[in-house]
Amino acid sequence: MKKAICPGSFDPITNGHLDVIERASHLFDKVVVAVLVNSSKGSLFTVDERIALAKDCVKHLSNVKVDSWSGLLVDYCRENDIDAIVKGLRAVSDFDYELQMAQINLQLKGVDTLLMAAKPAYSFLSSSLVREIARYGGDVSSLVPAGVLIELVKKAKDSSSAGSQLGR
Ligand code: PNS
Repeated sequence: MKKAICPGSFDPITNGHLDVIERASHLFDKVVVAVLVNSSKGSLFTVDERIALAKDCVKHLSNVKVDSWSGLLVDYCRENDIDAIVKGLRAVSDFDYELQMAQINLQLKGVDTLLMAAKPAYSFLSSSLVREIARYGGDVSSLVPAGVLIELVKKAKDSSSAGSQLGR
């Protein structure tokens, strides 16, 4: 049985993430979507919210589960018998960073990374762009799954009076 992990901050999960997860689920027997907790990075959604949104988005994929982790990705991989890290590559600008991460993860614990070419339709898409558009009341309905859209709209409403983290 071959197991892959799709790691990320998922703040929030986008249609681009979901596309990579779906394609990975066709290539591997099991896929873990790992919401990585980075306490030094501000986030719009709490870890629990990001996990709940990711779970809702992958509920149609029977071989995909969602988990969270606050340590090194390679330690999760080794503890859970993960065969490969799968990450989307949107553009050449992603490449240097992703190559560095792939190489350090290989060096640390011998974990391989597969970089999956993003669909051209999602090559511009990022969680930070989604947060930015939503912050100013823009339409992100074509960029995120329906459940994420609902929660983004709620956050935008909540923040209009209380000061927002949507742009971070
Ligand atoms: O969605 P992101 O923020 O681009 O995802 C980056 C992520 C979370 C996959 C990456 O930062 C990560 O793997 N973090 C866990 C800590 C780790 O293992 N870092 C790599 C070795 S320094």
